[in-house]
Amino acid sequence: MRFSFIKILFNCFLVDDRNKNITKDSLTGDFKQEKTMKVEILDLTKKNLKDVPEWKTYPFSCKYCLYWELPREYEVSKTKIKEDLLREKLRWIENTRKNFGNCGKLLYLNGIAVGYAQYAPPDFFPRLSDYRSDAVLISCLFIPYRDLRGVGLGTQLLHSIIEDLRKRGIKAVETYARKGNSENPSGPVEFYLKNGFRIHREDPEFPLMRLDL
Ligand SMILES: CC(C)(COP(=O)(O)OP(=O)(O)OC[C@H]1O[C@@H](n2cnc3c(N)ncnc32)[C@H](O)[C@@H]1OP(=O)(O)O)[C@@H](O)C(=O)NCCC(=O)NCCS
Repeated sequence: MRFSFIKILFNCFLVDDRNKNITKDSLTGDFKQEKTMKVEILDLTKKNLKDVPEWKTYPFSCKYCLYWELPREYEVSKTKIKEDLLREKLRWIENTRKNFGNCGKLLYLNGIAVGYAQYAPPDFFPRLSDYRSDAVLISCLFIPYRDLRGVGLGTQLLHSIIEDLRKRGIKAVETYARKGNSENPSGPVEFYLKNGFRIHREDPEFPLMRLDL
């Protein structure tokens, strides 16, 4: 498991100012002391959804984003208040956990959530009504803090998903990644190629990536 502590130390002086939950000081303070450095990855639950980072621009947080879960709702969600969106997300998590099992991960750095991932079989994502697969789909894998990217946290989060799915006897994991651009719910193609995925279905911009487990 790769983790570049030195790089983190440098990068933490430039914490993403979009996030209003975590101040620069709270991060740099923690990371100044190597002994207190701790990465923890927990299953996503209704209880810890509140920890998911927020930022100032739409959709403000992964906890309010319903892009995959409720496409029709998503079209009007810009006019909805956060509480409504959160309620819908909680409902989705509850239903998915009940019928599929764990469907997400939160990565904490010294007790602060800095990474979010969400996954389930395609049937749980109405936006993908024409997508059939034996695989579980990663709909989101995100490190919201720009300056915490590129130091291995995304890889740790992805590996924890793969481990979870392997233990549960799932055959394969897939995601729609983006070519040459990380602005995409689950990130760029290059990240998945680096982590053993292959292009399963070609597309000029958003190929379907797959890893057989
Ligand atoms: C994509 C993402 C999850 C990857 O997590 P990360 O912690 O930054 O990635 P890692 O440090 O584990 O990278 C592992 C490897 O993946 C590849 N990689 C990661 N990000 C990449 C990028 N943006 N472009 C190309 N390759 C990339 C690299 O090969 C890297 O290995 P290297 O550092 O040895 O070169 C993260 O960068 C992210 O959240 N980006 C923003 C995505 C976004 O805007 N999403 C919108 C959500 S709505």
